Amino acid sequence: DDVRLWGGRFADGPSEALEKLSASVHFDWRLAPYDIAGSRAHARVLQAAGLLTADELEKMLAGLDRLERDVADGTFTGTVADEDVHTALERGLLERLGPDLGGKLRAGRSRNDQVATLFRMYLRDHARIIGGLLADLNGALTGLARAHPDVAMPGRTHLQHAQPVLFAHHVLAHAQALSRDAERLRQWDERTAVSPYGSGALAGSSLGLDPEAVAAELGFERGSAGNSIDGTASRDFVAEFAFVTAMIGVDLSRIAEEVILWNTKEFSFVTLHDAFSTGSSIMPQKKNPDIAELARGKSGRLIGNLTGLLATLKALPLAYNRDLQEDKEPVFDSCDQLEILLPAFTGMMATLTVNRERMAELAPAGFSLATDIAEWLVKQGVPFRVAHEVAGECVKVCEQQGIELNELTDEQFAKISPHLTPAVRAVLDVPGALAARDGRGGTAPAAVARQLAEVTADLAVQ
Ligand code: ARG
Repeated sequence: DDVRLWGGRFADGPSEALEKLSASVHFDWRLAPYDIAGSRAHARVLQAAGLLTADELEKMLAGLDRLERDVADGTFTGTVADEDVHTALERGLLERLGPDLGGKLRAGRSRNDQVATLFRMYLRDHARIIGGLLADLNGALTGLARAHPDVAMPGRTHLQHAQPVLFAHHVLAHAQALSRDAERLRQWDERTAVSPYGSGALAGSSLGLDPEAVAAELGFERGSAGNSIDGTASRDFVAEFAFVTAMIGVDLSRIAEEVILWNTKEFSFVTLHDAFSTGSSIMPQKKNPDIAELARGKSGRLIGNLTGLLATLKALPLAYNRDLQEDKEPVFDSCDQLEILLPAFTGMMATLTVNRERMAELAPAGFSLATDIAEWLVKQGVPFRVAHEVAGECVKVCEQQGIELNELTDEQFAKISPHLTPAVRAVLDVPGALAARDGRGGTAPAAVARQLAEVTADLAVQ
């Protein structure tokens, strides 16, 4: 029996080569539970429109239940000949209910409005899963901040020592970025809560079906599509999802790069837990930050998924075109990659050992307190332009003598500028420099404690 949905006007079946090219069932099978949920809702609106009797609806729903069980336990699967998940499940229903009843469900819907709806449902579920995994990671980052409230480290710009900061401050900067990503997912989800079901192939349906009822049953809070052409042809919701997942990848890669650096002999800022690092097949001493490297690598893949998808969408005329079948694999992959990566990444961050002595020792190195000298001078009434010059002179003398700023003698200070009285020494220590930056967002312990409270409160929202 021909399983194709369009047999009527064709004398010949598809060639084997076409079948192979056309098939998407091997990747869109994951939409099966959503397809069945859509079919239930569709059956109900067919009945409400008088196109199924109450008895037929009951049998139809029972058939869909059976089909759902058979899909879940693997008794029923799609084949290449089915082409896609929608056709396969239609065959499954026909096999269970017979052609007379089974053949009624197709009225008033098209695979075009089906796939646009199911894809939204799938991605909305995974936006929530990924949001939860981001919250777990932020739980690990806030945990690190909470466990190390007073550890100083060298803050860097251009990867050069800039000013000392609290390790907790630095870690919470990453948490802020991830919390915006989680917010992006929530806002995307809200925008995507519109159901294209009822748009048909592109023009809507003549059968008096109620798309709003379908939307409500399928959990689309914003109702059904306001334009059936847009409903079937738009994929900006996919591109936006791909962007947010790519952004997550990029944000992870920035943490990853630092973990990789921190874990080197030269930095020695952190030690990775054995359970979250790997060894070398030839060098017995090696302990490698593979999770961080895979995160860095996968971010490239996530960006590729976004750019590939945008290239597929570019210049596509309205409405549905088969090109759109290429929209699913990239974002399915983005979901899969993040859902595999994030738990490992969270484990790595949660089990990181922080070498507080090493960080603290390097915090003032590289003349990172020069700004504090300049700002101290400003507080004595010296114009900043002069203060900057004087502090720069201090650095120059230190560099010539191979010493640190706090090793300059009172005489050397006085020689550089009469404004540099011995009282300047008060700011030449890291805790003082940190504590002084107590404005909102700053690196003082009290300011960082407020940041920790804010990120923690944000976690509760997710
Ligand atoms: N499998 C297709 C897709 O993923 C949906 C089927 C629409 N096919 C069609 N010939 N109108 O986009």
